[in-house]
Amino acid sequence: MINNSVNTEDAAEAAALNRAMWETRARVHGSTATDRFYDVESFVAGRGTLHRLERELAGDVADKDLLHLQCHFGMDTLSWARLGARVTGVDFSPTAVERARRLAERTGLPATFVEADTQRLPDSLAGRFDLAVATYGVLCWIGDLDAWMRGAAMALRPGGSLVLVDLHPALQTVATLEPLVVDWPYGGGEPQRDTVTGTYADPGLGLPAQDVVEYPHSIGEVVTAAATAGLTVQHLGEHVAAELDPRGILPQGPDGLYRLPFGDSHLPVLYSLVARSPQPHTTS
Ligand SMILES: C[S@@+](CC[C@H](N)C(=O)[O-])C[C@H]1O[C@@H](n2cnc3c(N)ncnc32)[C@H](O)[C@@H]1O
Repeated sequence: MINNSVNTEDAAEAAALNRAMWETRARVHGSTATDRFYDVESFVAGRGTLHRLERELAGDVADKDLLHLQCHFGMDTLSWARLGARVTGVDFSPTAVERARRLAERTGLPATFVEADTQRLPDSLAGRFDLAVATYGVLCWIGDLDAWMRGAAMALRPGGSLVLVDLHPALQTVATLEPLVVDWPYGGGEPQRDTVTGTYADPGLGLPAQDVVEYPHSIGEVVTAAATAGLTVQHLGEHVAAELDPRGILPQGPDGLYRLPFGDSHLPVLYSLVARSPQPHTTS
């Protein structure tokens, strides 16, 4: 069995590096004139930020309690609120959480935001949610995949579902398409150190170089972690076309969708997982 856990000291150092980098991004995202990704003004005016994929997988969220894991500064969390969900967002970046709270105030949408590492969710979230949702750029930051899945499972009510949409490990292996550079493991969970100098939201923005640690997880490892946490997998999708280009490297087709070319075919760019918390056994 693959051991997803990493040395505690290394994990703490990695989390500190990653949090520092996300603090920088949380400060600038949606705040610069050249940001092409987060358009806060149109969001405040009513634009939703969710994509068809996660909306269809989550189903009707009206009157549901929804936990949004790694919520960044809250645009997606609040988009779920606009669809009628009672939302709680979690992120380990204090700046992201603070900005999310301010955005909720600005939009007048009810929402709770909690500062926490998703590998150590607080007990106060236990058993409270119909849905736990996490999307686009989630598990590559997570060293302890088992702890993340246990947290998501712990937060769900019996019969509640985890909806996860994330970058496919096949896409994660690719550094650049032209020239084609494949420099990341497909999975295995081993920490990968890197230095980032910018952000996907505003590639031209000069940001200080910051070290980060990311973790490659294969589809098999993600599904196994969900099962190990006691969740029942109901859906696993691998998607060769996406509405967004999460890493800023994919060509856009005439249909507006982004694909990862592979000879005359395509490799998946996203995967989606729906996994359910067991219903209690009833005795007759
Ligand atoms: C790419 S963003 C996710 C984007 C998200 N779909 C949204 O709604 O904008 C990744 C987020 O994960 C958060 N994050 C990374 N590692 C985390 C951890 N261990 N615990 C909690 N949040 C984490 C970052 O602070 C950042 O806000």
